[in-house]
Amino acid sequence: MAAHAFDFAPLLRAGLPAPAVKWAGPPKYNFIGGNNDPDHVPVDGLLAAANAVLRREGVTLANYGLESGPLGYRPLREFLAAKLARTAGISCTPDEILITSGSLQALDLVNGLLLAPGDTVLIEQDSYQGSLNRLVRLGVKMVGVPLDGEGMRIDAVEAALEDLARRGIRAKYIYTIPTVQNPTGTIMPEPRRRELLRLSERYAVPIFEDDCYADLTWDGRRPPALYAMSEHGGVIHIGSFSKSIAPALRVGYIVAPWHVLSRILPLKTDAGSGALEQMVLAEFCAQHFGVHVPKLTRGLRMKAETLMESLAEHFGTSAEFEDPRGGIFLWVKLPDAVDTLKLAQAALASGVAINPGPEWSTDKAHGRSRLRLCFASPSRQAIREGVAVLAEVCRREFGVPVRSANVEQRVRA
Ligand SMILES: Cc1ncc(COP(=O)(O)O)c(C=O)c1O
Repeated sequence: MAAHAFDFAPLLRAGLPAPAVKWAGPPKYNFIGGNNDPDHVPVDGLLAAANAVLRREGVTLANYGLESGPLGYRPLREFLAAKLARTAGISCTPDEILITSGSLQALDLVNGLLLAPGDTVLIEQDSYQGSLNRLVRLGVKMVGVPLDGEGMRIDAVEAALEDLARRGIRAKYIYTIPTVQNPTGTIMPEPRRRELLRLSERYAVPIFEDDCYADLTWDGRRPPALYAMSEHGGVIHIGSFSKSIAPALRVGYIVAPWHVLSRILPLKTDAGSGALEQMVLAEFCAQHFGVHVPKLTRGLRMKAETLMESLAEHFGTSAEFEDPRGGIFLWVKLPDAVDTLKLAQAALASGVAINPGPEWSTDKAHGRSRLRLCFASPSRQAIREGVAVLAEVCRREFGVPVRSANVEQRVRA
């Protein structure tokens, strides 16, 4: 190692994001990110699958794309085509599925296909930070659509599309997470999906459907995908194995008709996503997906209940939330006095990591006193302890909650 680091600063291109902060290890109470439940990673099944598939087909690793071509490992696409037909009502062939490196790459590819700086998109007002950040970085204008208990409000979608049309603007897409929305945990019912599709058709604005939590509904049921219900074909659908199996595998996918996929494929210039993960997933999922997922969601439901009980115990009526319909998140509203960006910093200093609302919303004022808590990754004990510490920090910093477990607490003078 040279004694002095070479100075790259004058060479960096303009417009780079802020430098990364060095990872300081996991926080003691980790409620951030979209992590999964470590107790439900099917390690034995994955081991057996890896062993079997490598013995049988390991030599195909000699080729880029194995023997399946650039869309990804064919048995995984076959599994997905069958599973999407069964669960989401999607009728597609394996050649209408592109395997990606997580659905984050799918987001980048679809954005790369459609978006240029200055374009406009519609997006749920509270949405996935990874999607919001990408749009900001691309210089795309976002019209935030308010949500209710059934997802995107259709009157607001219509008003936004009408307003844009009046100004001669055709939005590039309507981005939605209709099945277990991130962060609110709602599911858009079938009639609303139909209305959304009607608006999409009327205004000739496609729908970008992000369905990565769709396997994690508490009762295992879900409405048909927008992709399945569409009569005009203007829907691009993406999904992921991150939430149903494990995020570190980095396997997601895009479903689109070939005339769309054929324009996306040339943008995927990485010579294929990791093959071993795809092989292991295909081998594992063909036999075990249907048994694994209900076990996972039962565990997640128990953790969701622990989190809601802990919030009720330590925050009382100061924490408002809707019982989510599935998934791994709770979207919580605290009293207006609480600034969750500040709360997040103070909580982290006490070992509790939370996602502050403004980072998950197009409307920073709306997000100001909201926060997102992921309940999948901490143990139930850690959830209880972490919420107790969070309540302490919140009381110290903002004077709320005044009561915890029916006991009046002393607040800061
Ligand atoms: C709505 C949504 N889309 C996409 C992703 C990206 O997931 P992955 O790249 O792990 O598939 C996430 C991750 O949390 C998400 O919440």
